Amino acid sequence: MPSTLSTAFDALTKTPGQVAVILVEPDRKLSSEGRKLDKACGGQISRALTAANFKGGRKSAIEVYALEGTDIQRLVIVGTGDVSKAAQQDWIELGGVIANQLTTRKITAAHIIVETASKAEGDGAQAAADLALGATLRSYTFRLHRTQPEQNDAPPTTLSELVFHVANVEGAQAAGGTSDAVAGGVTLARDLVNEPANILGPVEFAERCEDLAKLGVDVEVLDDEQLRELGMDAVLAVAQGSDRPARVVVMQWQGAKSKRTKPLCFIGKGVCFDTGGISLKPASGMEDMKGDMGGAAAVVGLMHTLAARQASVNAVGVIGLVENMPSGTATRPGDIISSLSGKTIEVLNTDAEGRLVLADLLWYVEDRFSPRFMINLATLTGAIIVALGREYAGFFCNNDRLANDLSAAGEDTAEKVWRMPLAKGYDRLIDSPNADMKNIGGRNAGAVTAAQFLQRFVTDVPWAHIDVAGVAMAANKTDISPSWASGWGVRILDRLVSDSYERSS
Ligand code: BES
Ligand code: MN
Ligand code: ZN
Repeated sequence: MPSTLSTAFDALTKTPGQVAVILVEPDRKLSSEGRKLDKACGGQISRALTAANFKGGRKSAIEVYALEGTDIQRLVIVGTGDVSKAAQQDWIELGGVIANQLTTRKITAAHIIVETASKAEGDGAQAAADLALGATLRSYTFRLHRTQPEQNDAPPTTLSELVFHVANVEGAQAAGGTSDAVAGGVTLARDLVNEPANILGPVEFAERCEDLAKLGVDVEVLDDEQLRELGMDAVLAVAQGSDRPARVVVMQWQGAKSKRTKPLCFIGKGVCFDTGGISLKPASGMEDMKGDMGGAAAVVGLMHTLAARQASVNAVGVIGLVENMPSGTATRPGDIISSLSGKTIEVLNTDAEGRLVLADLLWYVEDRFSPRFMINLATLTGAIIVALGREYAGFFCNNDRLANDLSAAGEDTAEKVWRMPLAKGYDRLIDSPNADMKNIGGRNAGAVTAAQFLQRFVTDVPWAHIDVAGVAMAANKTDISPSWASGWGVRILDRLVSDSYERSS
């Protein structure tokens, strides 16, 4: 992985080395290791806490230099806030906070004593793995194309090594395997979204998917000729304005006991660049449309995570990769196109292209895989950003159980989703006099009419559409998401799989 941070776990009893971190809860409660250290240095730590009037609040930190009677040259004391009832997500975020405290101090390697006074999360194994995940996610950078890292500003500090000291080292290493799998998937998704479109077109994106084979994922790339034979006319109608051909990638992970267990299917919009086509977008901010493949990136990241942690499910990821360009061969407004389903579509706005790609993928996946469910992710509409901003992704679902499971997974991972309505009255807005449907509704409820359009290509399977336009890129920065590309979707879907589908299969 391009992440430069390596994390490891070691015993609590090992001496923590030159740079150490301890965690302090409110009321200056030190852990037992913290008290030992305080004793060893003749009370230097408690004196510093008092002098700084340290409250132990979340995101507070102080530093003590040259700890007497120990090898520790720099001790960073990080406040945890109340962790007596902390959930997994709180530990992950705390890992991000610790990473940030270290980098702002230009520290590149440190030993972290995971223990807290209230001993939340038992022997510390899971907490250590969670902290490692949070620190890794926070340490993400995209510097692939910077040949001179030291530009005008100070050289950026990158955390390179963290050692987490815990009572249960083996437990932490086991839990850490899952953390690595998740971090790897999120990092992969972010890298794909950050990459500009001149470097990552449909062909190049598909090539990167082939790397998943190393993890045991079966990767199949359908080229434009195969798409034509299959009849994916809607995908091809979007791609035809570009010199770069379309690709559809099918990724299969078989982790269930039986190969015949119906798969969980994930589908992603992969518009490598969305100019709008002939219905050209305005110039300002168009560069963000290099991220219009954020749904596909999340699906690839998820497949990485599921395979890397050997998830005991059958899962399929399918992504549609195209570039939406204006040209002499581009689809025009008013054109009537066909689709894999046979249904015809009047394209009134070539900028409503993502739904055309997804229409064929949804039909293809339901027909080929008879899935347990289909979930598609797409940076589909600006309207969802108007409705929900960048806090929640909007989702649409034809099945209450799936909807509830998704919402719960979103709360647990802080990749939050808000359910939006599907209804006959909205569906009517995309009826067309000239074809089976048109690809845009009116001015109203733009995110909903887009979802209604997709639903016309789903027949009889639990299905959810998550509109990630507001969260996949240019989203709110958080303790664990520092980059323009968030990698949104990997963690919520991995959680959905592990919580609702792995235990039973
Ligand atoms: N990729 C865009 C949606 C988008 C907008 C994603 C902003 C991320 C940030 C999508 O293809 C699009 O252009 N949608 C149109 C639909 C309209 C023409 C009905 C939109 O939202 O304006
Ligand atoms: Mn568009
Ligand atoms: Zn788009």
